[in-house]
Amino acid sequence: MFPLRRNRRLRTNEAIRELVRETVISPNDFIVPIFIVEGKGIKEEIDSMPNYYRFSLDLLETEIKSLWKLGLKSVLLFVKVPDHLKDNKGTEALNSDGLMQRAIKTVKNICPDMLVMTDVALDPYSSYGHDGIIEKGKIENDVTVKILAEMSISHASAGANFVAPSDMMDGRILAIRKALDHHHLIDTGIMSYSAKYASAFYGPFRDALDSAPTAIKNVPKDKNTYQMDFANSKEAIRETIMDINEGADIVMVKPGLAYLDIVNNIKNNVNVPIAVYQVSGEYAMLKAAAEKGWLDHDAVMMEQITAIKRAGANLIASYFAKEVVILLNND
Ligand code: PBG
Repeated sequence: MFPLRRNRRLRTNEAIRELVRETVISPNDFIVPIFIVEGKGIKEEIDSMPNYYRFSLDLLETEIKSLWKLGLKSVLLFVKVPDHLKDNKGTEALNSDGLMQRAIKTVKNICPDMLVMTDVALDPYSSYGHDGIIEKGKIENDVTVKILAEMSISHASAGANFVAPSDMMDGRILAIRKALDHHHLIDTGIMSYSAKYASAFYGPFRDALDSAPTAIKNVPKDKNTYQMDFANSKEAIRETIMDINEGADIVMVKPGLAYLDIVNNIKNNVNVPIAVYQVSGEYAMLKAAAEKGWLDHDAVMMEQITAIKRAGANLIASYFAKEVVILLNND
């Protein structure tokens, strides 16, 4: 018999499609990454990230106000550290007057209600571009964790609402939670990059911060000894559940689009909010294809963001955030 159920009925026109739509994007879905540099009057475009910029602190005001006006209420801060301040000890990361600490205060001054999240990892501060301290040819986990905990206290004391450890050292969430609590910073949350893969999609980000790992004797030029193997799935669940048990308020999967199976799997296994980071390489790929006229930029952007949310993301860190919201407003 010809089917009783004709599925096309629910696709007949925009009104019925909107009525049955499962995934809807709003400004509340987004965290906006912001790159900050030392200096004055700087708004420089990142070569491999067209239409994305590094800002000096004095030019943050216009940007932060325009985000807030669009309904984008949370930012994730990254700093580009001058070469002469980089070392193998994370010294500058703990400077209470460092660029990150000043950036947090600046954003809070401009817009006190803006949710400020900060990247906690040593790579922008490392002369080797690694997320940890190197001793005897190894990334030293436990030494690094101590510094990450101190760094978190420093960010929280400057006013950060959430610290976001992106380093993938073992045990750092517990160490950070304990350190924050010990300093009575009980309201500061932790968004853990729990399932962060060793990915070539981070290339443009490392250009933006000049933080690519360099080859040093006996230490590999990649991050494969701490970030996860992209061939693995079970490990993501293990990492995520451990981070939740250690006190993570929000967990994250990173990168986004190529890892939506992981997102969906985690969604079915945990009960805390899940963030997905649509990373720099994903942004660059679409910008490049659109520049060549090979893809419809806005249509593909919306499809990708919707796919990330459909897979199970409760929040999305994305370089497209502003463009998406502007597009939604114009519809
Ligand atoms: C630093 C960090 C990286 C990203 C976020 N935090 C780079 C890396 O781990 O090498 C990547 C973000 C992106 O590519 O957009 N630990």
